[in-house]
Amino acid sequence: MRDIKDQINLNKKKVLLRLDLNVPLENGKITDTTRIDKILPTINYLLKNDAKIIILSHVGRPKGKVVNELSLEPICESLESKLKTNIKFIKKNIKEIKSSDLFIDRNEKIVILENLRFYEEEEKNDKDFAKHLANLADIYVNDAFSCSHRAHASIFEITKFISSYAGLQLKLEIEALTKITSEIKKPITCIIGGSKVSSKFNIIKNLIPKFDNIIIVGGMANNILKYKGHEIGKSLQEDNCNQIVEEIFSLSKKENCKIFYPEDVVTGKSLNGSPEVKELENVSKDDLILDIGPKTIKTIHDIIDKSNTILWNGPAGYFENPSFAKGSIEISKKIVEKNKNNTIYSVAGGGDTVALLNIVDAINSFNFVSTAGGAFLEYLEGKELPGIKALN
Ligand code: 3PG
Repeated sequence: MRDIKDQINLNKKKVLLRLDLNVPLENGKITDTTRIDKILPTINYLLKNDAKIIILSHVGRPKGKVVNELSLEPICESLESKLKTNIKFIKKNIKEIKSSDLFIDRNEKIVILENLRFYEEEEKNDKDFAKHLANLADIYVNDAFSCSHRAHASIFEITKFISSYAGLQLKLEIEALTKITSEIKKPITCIIGGSKVSSKFNIIKNLIPKFDNIIIVGGMANNILKYKGHEIGKSLQEDNCNQIVEEIFSLSKKENCKIFYPEDVVTGKSLNGSPEVKELENVSKDDLILDIGPKTIKTIHDIIDKSNTILWNGPAGYFENPSFAKGSIEISKKIVEKNKNNTIYSVAGGGDTVALLNIVDAINSFNFVSTAGGAFLEYLEGKELPGIKALN
Protein backbone atom coordinates (compact mmCIF):
# COMPACT_ATOMS: atom_id res chain seq x y z
CA MET A 1 0.00 0.00 0.00
CA ARG A 2 1.51 3.35 -1.05
CA ASP A 3 1.41 6.12 1.51
CA ILE A 4 1.97 9.86 1.19
CA LYS A 5 5.61 9.55 2.18
CA ASP A 6 6.30 7.23 -0.77
CA GLN A 7 8.13 9.58 -3.08
CA ILE A 8 5.29 11.64 -4.43
CA ASN A 9 5.73 15.19 -5.43
CA LEU A 10 3.13 17.04 -3.43
CA ASN A 11 4.26 20.53 -4.29
CA LYS A 12 1.22 22.65 -5.34
CA LYS A 13 -0.72 19.42 -5.98
CA LYS A 14 -4.40 19.40 -5.06
CA VAL A 15 -4.97 16.54 -2.62
CA LEU A 16 -8.40 15.10 -1.87
CA LEU A 17 -8.07 13.98 1.72
CA ARG A 18 -10.78 11.57 2.98
CA LEU A 19 -10.98 11.84 6.74
CA ASP A 20 -13.34 10.47 9.35
CA LEU A 21 -14.54 13.63 11.07
CA ASN A 22 -17.54 11.72 12.38
CA VAL A 23 -16.95 12.96 15.93
CA PRO A 24 -19.49 12.75 18.76
CA LEU A 25 -21.68 15.88 18.71
CA GLU A 26 -24.12 17.17 21.30
CA ASN A 27 -26.19 20.23 20.40
CA GLY A 28 -23.69 21.11 17.66
CA LYS A 29 -20.75 20.89 20.09
CA ILE A 30 -17.96 18.31 19.73
CA THR A 31 -17.71 16.18 22.85
CA ASP A 32 -14.55 14.29 21.89
CA THR A 33 -11.87 15.42 19.43
CA THR A 34 -9.66 12.31 19.30
CA ARG A 35 -10.48 11.58 15.65
CA ILE A 36 -9.50 15.16 14.77
CA ASP A 37 -6.28 15.03 16.82
CA LYS A 38 -5.19 11.79 15.16
CA ILE A 39 -5.25 13.15 11.60
CA LEU A 40 -3.29 16.34 12.33
CA PRO A 41 0.09 14.72 11.40
CA THR A 42 -1.20 13.91 7.89
CA ILE A 43 -2.54 17.42 7.34
CA ASN A 44 0.68 18.96 8.68
CA TYR A 45 2.77 16.72 6.43
CA LEU A 46 0.75 17.75 3.37
CA LEU A 47 1.00 21.44 4.33
CA LYS A 48 4.75 21.18 4.90
CA ASN A 49 5.08 19.77 1.39
CA ASP A 50 3.07 22.65 -0.09
CA ALA A 51 0.04 20.61 -1.09
CA LYS A 52 -3.42 22.18 -1.37
CA ILE A 53 -5.89 20.12 0.64
CA ILE A 54 -9.55 19.40 -0.09
CA ILE A 55 -11.02 17.65 2.95
CA LEU A 56 -13.85 15.15 2.48
CA SER A 57 -15.78 13.54 5.33
CA HIS A 58 -19.17 12.42 6.53
CA VAL A 59 -20.85 12.96 9.89
CA GLY A 60 -23.64 10.74 11.19
CA ARG A 61 -26.15 9.00 8.97
CA PRO A 62 -28.25 11.69 7.19
CA LYS A 63 -29.26 9.13 4.51
CA GLY A 64 -28.80 11.29 1.42
CA LYS A 65 -30.64 14.37 2.79
CA VAL A 66 -29.37 17.71 4.09
CA VAL A 67 -29.63 17.62 7.89
CA ASN A 68 -28.41 20.94 9.32
CA GLU A 69 -27.41 19.42 12.69
CA LEU A 70 -25.00 17.16 10.80
CA SER A 71 -23.12 19.95 9.03
CA LEU A 72 -19.33 19.80 9.04
CA GLU A 73 -19.15 23.52 9.88
CA PRO A 74 -18.53 23.21 13.67
CA ILE A 75 -15.97 20.48 13.00
CA CYS A 76 -14.23 22.72 10.47
CA GLU A 77 -13.95 25.42 13.19
CA SER A 78 -12.40 22.95 15.63
CA LEU A 79 -9.90 21.76 13.02
CA GLU A 80 -9.05 25.37 12.18
CA SER A 81 -8.21 26.19 15.78
CA LYS A 82 -6.12 23.04 16.24
CA LEU A 83 -4.13 23.66 13.04
CA LYS A 84 -3.96 27.43 13.65
CA THR A 85 -4.61 27.78 9.90
CA ASN A 86 -7.62 29.17 8.04
CA ILE A 87 -9.86 26.59 6.40
CA LYS A 88 -12.48 27.57 3.84
CA PHE A 89 -15.78 25.82 4.47
CA ILE A 90 -17.64 25.23 1.20
CA LYS A 91 -21.36 24.85 1.71
CA LYS A 92 -22.17 24.71 -2.02
CA ASN A 93 -23.71 21.53 -3.46
CA ILE A 94 -20.75 19.21 -3.99
CA LYS A 95 -22.13 18.08 -7.35
CA GLU A 96 -21.92 21.66 -8.66
CA ILE A 97 -18.38 22.40 -7.50
CA LYS A 98 -15.69 22.57 -10.20
CA SER A 99 -11.96 22.24 -9.67
CA SER A 100 -11.52 25.83 -10.92
CA ASP A 101 -13.79 27.07 -8.07
CA LEU A 102 -11.24 25.93 -5.49
CA PHE A 103 -8.17 27.83 -4.26
CA ILE A 104 -8.97 30.98 -6.29
CA ASP A 105 -7.24 32.88 -3.51
CA ARG A 106 -3.62 31.72 -3.80
CA ASN A 107 -3.14 31.96 -0.03
CA GLU A 108 -5.82 29.37 0.60
CA LYS A 109 -4.32 26.05 1.62
CA ILE A 110 -7.23 23.97 2.94
CA VAL A 111 -10.87 23.77 1.95
CA ILE A 112 -13.48 21.44 3.40
CA LEU A 113 -16.59 20.25 1.59
CA GLU A 114 -19.95 19.68 3.31
CA ASN A 115 -21.04 16.26 4.70
CA LEU A 116 -20.68 13.67 1.89
CA ARG A 117 -23.67 11.71 3.17
CA PHE A 118 -25.99 14.62 2.29
CA TYR A 119 -25.77 13.00 -1.15
CA GLU A 120 -27.26 9.54 -1.62
CA GLU A 121 -24.62 8.81 -4.26
CA GLU A 122 -21.96 8.54 -1.54
CA GLU A 123 -23.34 5.43 0.17
CA LYS A 124 -24.43 3.98 -3.19
CA ASN A 125 -20.77 4.01 -4.23
CA ASP A 126 -21.96 5.93 -7.31
CA LYS A 127 -19.47 5.96 -10.16
CA ASP A 128 -20.29 9.45 -11.48
CA PHE A 129 -20.17 10.99 -8.00
CA ALA A 130 -16.79 9.34 -7.37
CA LYS A 131 -15.50 10.51 -10.74
CA HIS A 132 -16.74 14.04 -10.05
CA LEU A 133 -14.90 14.11 -6.70
CA ALA A 134 -11.75 12.70 -8.31
CA ASN A 135 -11.82 15.44 -10.95
CA LEU A 136 -11.41 18.08 -8.22
CA ALA A 137 -7.83 17.08 -7.44
CA ASP A 138 -4.54 15.49 -8.56
CA ILE A 139 -4.08 12.96 -5.76
CA TYR A 140 -6.41 11.10 -3.36
CA VAL A 141 -5.43 10.20 0.20
CA ASN A 142 -7.47 7.97 2.49
CA ASP A 143 -6.73 8.70 6.14
CA ALA A 144 -10.03 7.35 7.39
CA PHE A 145 -9.32 3.78 8.54
CA SER A 146 -12.54 3.91 10.56
CA CYS A 147 -14.56 4.29 7.31
CA SER A 148 -12.61 1.80 5.24
CA HIS A 149 -15.14 -1.00 5.85
CA ARG A 150 -17.64 1.02 3.80
CA ALA A 151 -17.62 0.53 0.02
CA HIS A 152 -18.73 4.12 -0.48
CA ALA A 153 -17.92 6.50 -3.34
CA SER A 154 -15.32 8.56 -1.44
CA ILE A 155 -13.64 5.45 -0.03
CA PHE A 156 -13.81 2.81 -2.75
CA GLU A 157 -15.00 3.88 -6.21
CA ILE A 158 -12.95 7.10 -6.22
CA THR A 159 -9.67 5.19 -6.27
CA LYS A 160 -10.47 4.02 -9.82
CA PHE A 161 -10.17 7.57 -11.15
CA ILE A 162 -7.20 9.14 -9.35
CA SER A 163 -3.75 8.20 -7.98
CA SER A 164 -4.50 6.99 -4.47
CA TYR A 165 -2.43 6.80 -1.31
CA ALA A 166 -2.80 5.91 2.35
CA GLY A 167 -2.59 8.61 5.00
CA LEU A 168 -0.28 8.34 8.01
CA GLN A 169 -2.95 7.48 10.59
CA LEU A 170 -4.53 4.81 8.37
CA LYS A 171 -1.14 3.16 7.91
CA LEU A 172 -0.42 3.33 11.64
CA GLU A 173 -3.73 1.67 12.54
CA ILE A 174 -3.29 -1.15 10.04
CA GLU A 175 0.26 -1.85 11.18
CA ALA A 176 -0.82 -1.90 14.84
CA LEU A 177 -3.84 -4.15 14.23
CA THR A 178 -1.85 -6.54 12.04
CA LYS A 179 0.70 -6.95 14.84
CA ILE A 180 -1.98 -7.38 17.49
CA THR A 181 -3.96 -10.01 15.59
CA SER A 182 -0.86 -12.06 14.90
CA GLU A 183 0.30 -12.07 18.53
CA ILE A 184 -3.01 -12.53 20.31
CA LYS A 185 -3.06 -14.77 23.45
CA LYS A 186 -6.04 -16.90 24.53
CA PRO A 187 -8.45 -16.79 26.33
CA ILE A 188 -9.73 -13.91 24.23
CA THR A 189 -12.80 -11.93 25.20
CA CYS A 190 -14.57 -9.44 22.97
CA ILE A 191 -16.97 -6.88 24.46
CA ILE A 192 -19.38 -5.44 21.91
CA GLY A 193 -21.78 -2.64 22.77
CA GLY A 194 -22.80 0.78 21.49
CA SER A 195 -25.86 2.03 19.70
CA LYS A 196 -25.08 1.03 16.08
CA VAL A 197 -26.93 -2.25 16.19
CA SER A 198 -27.71 -3.01 12.57
CA SER A 199 -24.37 -4.01 11.12
CA LYS A 200 -22.88 -5.64 14.21
CA PHE A 201 -24.93 -8.84 14.50
CA ASN A 202 -23.36 -10.31 11.37
CA ILE A 203 -19.95 -9.33 12.63
CA ILE A 204 -20.56 -11.14 15.94
CA LYS A 205 -21.46 -14.27 14.02
CA ASN A 206 -18.17 -14.17 12.15
CA LEU A 207 -16.19 -13.48 15.33
CA ILE A 208 -17.55 -16.50 17.23
CA PRO A 209 -14.99 -19.02 15.88
CA LYS A 210 -12.11 -16.74 16.89
CA PHE A 211 -13.03 -15.90 20.48
CA ASP A 212 -13.57 -17.70 23.78
CA ASN A 213 -16.11 -15.21 25.15
CA ILE A 214 -18.29 -12.57 23.55
CA ILE A 215 -20.00 -10.13 25.91
CA ILE A 216 -22.89 -8.28 24.31
CA VAL A 217 -23.98 -5.03 26.00
CA GLY A 218 -25.48 -1.69 24.87
CA GLY A 219 -28.14 -1.49 22.15
CA MET A 220 -27.55 -4.97 20.74
CA ALA A 221 -28.15 -6.62 24.07
CA ASN A 222 -31.75 -5.38 23.94
CA ASN A 223 -32.42 -7.55 20.91
CA ILE A 224 -30.97 -10.53 22.73
CA LEU A 225 -33.13 -9.86 25.80
CA LYS A 226 -36.19 -9.57 23.58
CA TYR A 227 -35.33 -12.82 21.81
CA LYS A 228 -35.05 -14.49 25.24
CA GLY A 229 -38.59 -13.33 26.00
CA HIS A 230 -37.86 -10.33 28.26
CA GLU A 231 -39.70 -7.02 28.17
CA ILE A 232 -37.43 -4.24 26.84
CA GLY A 233 -39.98 -1.40 26.88
CA LYS A 234 -39.06 1.52 24.59
CA SER A 235 -35.37 0.60 24.43
CA LEU A 236 -33.25 0.91 21.31
CA GLN A 237 -33.61 -2.21 19.16
CA GLU A 238 -33.44 -3.42 15.59
CA ASP A 239 -36.37 -5.06 13.79
CA ASN A 240 -36.24 -8.59 12.39
CA CYS A 241 -33.19 -9.80 14.28
CA ASN A 242 -34.49 -13.03 15.81
CA GLN A 243 -33.08 -15.29 13.14
CA ILE A 244 -29.55 -13.90 13.35
CA VAL A 245 -29.70 -13.99 17.17
CA GLU A 246 -30.73 -17.64 16.95
CA GLU A 247 -27.83 -18.35 14.58
CA ILE A 248 -25.44 -16.62 16.99
CA PHE A 249 -26.49 -18.87 19.88
CA SER A 250 -26.40 -22.10 17.90
CA LEU A 251 -23.01 -21.31 16.33
CA SER A 252 -21.56 -20.33 19.71
CA LYS A 253 -22.43 -23.80 21.06
CA LYS A 254 -20.76 -25.48 18.10
CA GLU A 255 -17.64 -23.33 18.34
CA ASN A 256 -17.40 -23.40 22.11
CA CYS A 257 -17.59 -19.63 22.44
CA LYS A 258 -19.58 -18.36 25.43
CA ILE A 259 -22.03 -15.53 24.80
CA PHE A 260 -22.87 -13.25 27.73
CA TYR A 261 -25.62 -10.66 27.85
CA PRO A 262 -27.07 -8.53 30.68
CA GLU A 263 -28.47 -10.31 33.75
CA ASP A 264 -29.84 -7.06 35.18
CA VAL A 265 -30.15 -3.53 33.85
CA VAL A 266 -30.44 0.16 34.71
CA THR A 267 -33.50 1.85 33.23
CA GLY A 268 -34.80 5.40 32.86
CA LYS A 269 -38.08 6.83 31.63
CA SER A 270 -36.13 9.09 29.24
CA LEU A 271 -32.48 9.68 28.29
CA ASN A 272 -32.36 12.43 30.92
CA GLY A 273 -34.40 10.46 33.45
CA SER A 274 -33.22 9.15 36.79
CA PRO A 275 -31.63 5.70 36.91
CA GLU A 276 -33.30 2.63 38.42
CA VAL A 277 -31.55 -0.73 38.83
CA LYS A 278 -33.94 -3.49 37.71
CA GLU A 279 -34.07 -7.25 37.49
CA LEU A 280 -34.97 -8.30 33.94
CA GLU A 281 -38.49 -9.39 34.94
CA ASN A 282 -39.23 -5.92 36.36
CA VAL A 283 -38.61 -3.90 33.19
CA SER A 284 -41.85 -2.19 32.17
CA LYS A 285 -43.34 -1.07 28.86
CA ASP A 286 -42.42 2.58 29.36
CA ASP A 287 -38.79 1.88 30.38
CA LEU A 288 -35.65 2.52 28.39
CA ILE A 289 -32.76 0.18 29.17
CA LEU A 290 -29.79 2.54 29.44
CA ASP A 291 -27.06 0.61 31.26
CA ILE A 292 -26.07 -2.78 32.65
CA GLY A 293 -26.81 -3.56 36.29
CA PRO A 294 -24.45 -4.52 39.19
CA LYS A 295 -24.79 -8.31 38.73
CA THR A 296 -23.82 -7.98 35.07
CA ILE A 297 -20.85 -5.79 36.00
CA LYS A 298 -19.69 -8.47 38.46
CA THR A 299 -19.95 -11.21 35.79
CA ILE A 300 -18.02 -9.09 33.28
CA HIS A 301 -15.29 -8.41 35.88
CA ASP A 302 -14.92 -12.16 36.45
CA ILE A 303 -14.62 -12.84 32.72
CA ILE A 304 -12.02 -10.07 32.31
CA ASP A 305 -10.09 -11.58 35.23
CA LYS A 306 -9.86 -14.91 33.41
CA SER A 307 -8.90 -13.41 30.02
CA ASN A 308 -5.46 -12.81 28.54
CA THR A 309 -6.69 -10.58 25.74
CA ILE A 310 -9.60 -8.18 25.70
CA LEU A 311 -11.01 -6.38 22.68
CA TRP A 312 -13.68 -3.78 23.29
CA ASN A 313 -15.94 -1.85 20.95
CA GLY A 314 -18.98 0.10 22.09
CA PRO A 315 -20.05 1.36 25.53
CA ALA A 316 -22.33 -0.64 27.83
CA GLY A 317 -24.90 2.11 28.12
CA TYR A 318 -25.89 5.71 27.46
CA PHE A 319 -22.68 7.00 29.09
CA GLU A 320 -23.31 10.55 27.82
CA ASN A 321 -25.58 10.86 30.86
CA PRO A 322 -23.43 10.13 33.97
CA SER A 323 -26.44 8.36 35.55
CA PHE A 324 -26.04 5.60 32.95
CA ALA A 325 -22.23 5.52 32.67
CA LYS A 326 -21.43 3.18 35.57
CA GLY A 327 -21.37 -0.05 33.53
CA SER A 328 -18.94 1.35 30.94
CA ILE A 329 -16.76 2.98 33.61
CA GLU A 330 -16.55 -0.23 35.66
CA ILE A 331 -15.53 -2.23 32.58
CA SER A 332 -12.76 0.24 31.79
CA LYS A 333 -11.57 0.33 35.43
CA LYS A 334 -11.22 -3.45 35.52
CA ILE A 335 -9.25 -3.55 32.26
CA VAL A 336 -6.98 -0.74 33.47
CA GLU A 337 -6.37 -2.59 36.77
CA LYS A 338 -5.38 -5.78 34.91
CA ASN A 339 -3.23 -3.80 32.53
CA LYS A 340 -1.30 -2.24 35.40
CA ASN A 341 -0.38 -5.75 36.57
CA ASN A 342 0.53 -6.66 32.98
CA THR A 343 -1.91 -9.55 33.08
CA ILE A 344 -3.99 -8.60 30.05
CA TYR A 345 -3.50 -7.29 26.53
CA SER A 346 -6.19 -4.72 25.83
CA VAL A 347 -7.39 -3.09 22.65
CA ALA A 348 -10.34 -0.71 22.37
CA GLY A 349 -11.90 0.89 19.32
CA GLY A 350 -14.71 3.16 18.13
CA GLY A 351 -15.67 6.82 18.39
CA ASP A 352 -17.87 6.46 21.49
CA THR A 353 -15.54 4.02 23.25
CA VAL A 354 -12.65 6.43 22.73
CA ALA A 355 -14.80 9.31 24.07
CA LEU A 356 -15.62 7.25 27.16
CA LEU A 357 -11.97 6.32 27.75
CA ASN A 358 -11.05 10.00 27.52
CA ILE A 359 -13.70 10.91 30.13
CA VAL A 360 -12.29 8.38 32.61
CA ASP A 361 -8.70 9.19 31.62
CA ALA A 362 -8.01 5.56 30.70
CA ILE A 363 -6.93 5.98 27.10
CA ASN A 364 -3.21 5.56 27.85
CA SER A 365 -3.82 2.48 29.98
CA PHE A 366 -4.86 0.36 26.99
CA ASN A 367 -2.26 -1.37 24.83
CA PHE A 368 -3.84 0.05 21.69
CA VAL A 369 -6.77 2.33 20.99
CA SER A 370 -8.13 2.42 17.45
CA THR A 371 -10.23 5.33 16.17
CA ALA A 372 -12.31 2.72 14.33
CA GLY A 373 -15.39 0.88 15.55
CA GLY A 374 -17.10 -1.09 12.77
CA ALA A 375 -13.88 -1.18 10.71
CA PHE A 376 -11.97 -2.45 13.76
CA LEU A 377 -14.44 -5.33 14.25
CA GLU A 378 -14.50 -6.22 10.56
CA TYR A 379 -10.72 -6.21 10.54
CA LEU A 380 -10.78 -8.65 13.47
CA GLU A 381 -13.09 -10.88 11.43
CA GLY A 382 -10.18 -11.21 9.02
CA LYS A 383 -11.97 -9.44 6.19
CA GLU A 384 -10.17 -7.33 3.64
CA LEU A 385 -11.79 -3.93 4.05
CA PRO A 386 -13.00 -2.37 0.76
CA GLY A 387 -11.12 0.89 1.37
CA ILE A 388 -7.88 -0.95 2.03
CA LYS A 389 -8.40 -3.30 -0.91
CA ALA A 390 -8.88 -0.25 -3.14
CA LEU A 391 -5.58 1.26 -1.96
CA ASN A 392 -3.75 -2.03 -2.48
C1 3PG B 1 -17.62 5.27 12.47
O1 3PG B 1 -18.02 6.11 13.28
O2 3PG B 1 -17.39 4.09 12.80
C2 3PG B 1 -17.39 5.69 11.05
O3 3PG B 1 -17.47 7.06 10.91
C3 3PG B 1 -18.35 4.99 10.12
O4 3PG B 1 -19.66 5.39 10.38
P1 3PG B 1 -20.91 4.48 9.91
O5 3PG B 1 -20.97 3.30 10.85
O6 3PG B 1 -22.11 5.36 10.02
O7 3PG B 1 -20.61 4.04 8.50
